[in-house]
Amino acid sequence: MNLDDVKIIDLPKILDARGNLSFVEQFTHLPFAIQRTYWLYDVPGGECRGGHAYRNTQEFIIALSGSFDVLLDDGFEKRKYTLNRSYYGLYVPQGLWREMENFSTNSLALEFASTPYDEGDYIYDYQEFIKMKNNGSL
Ligand code: TYD
Repeated sequence: MNLDDVKIIDLPKILDARGNLSFVEQFTHLPFAIQRTYWLYDVPGGECRGGHAYRNTQEFIIALSGSFDVLLDDGFEKRKYTLNRSYYGLYVPQGLWREMENFSTNSLALEFASTPYDEGDYIYDYQEFIKMKNNGSL
């Protein structure tokens, strides 16, 4: 996968004077079955999360509150996405290096994943990631 496979996905937005509502359904809005949901919160200013690639996991990331940047790298090119609204999210396919930074105070990052948690799915070494991209094994 490369950066061309990354997409911003707009979610339904039900505008209502009582407060707005958005939702996400697997397959209708996401190209994968949701097997896990987790969220990042209380991130101290200046902290960076991520800093790894997944061999198999696809993710969809929403800024439910506040804002943060997602930096993606396919081994050839890097791109930065700023997420700051709860009615769209970022689809990140497997095999990309990802970092998250610049979290605003009280930001809440909601992440949907295509796999249950598996430590073995992580690549933590950037040089190994580059090697795998170059030899086509990722
Ligand atoms: P990690 O994925 O490295 O966090 P991030 O990429 O956001 O910096 O996970 C941090 C810790 O949390 C690590 O010890 C594994 C654990 N963890 C789970 O147990 N289940 C999960 O679904 C996730 C995402 C993390």
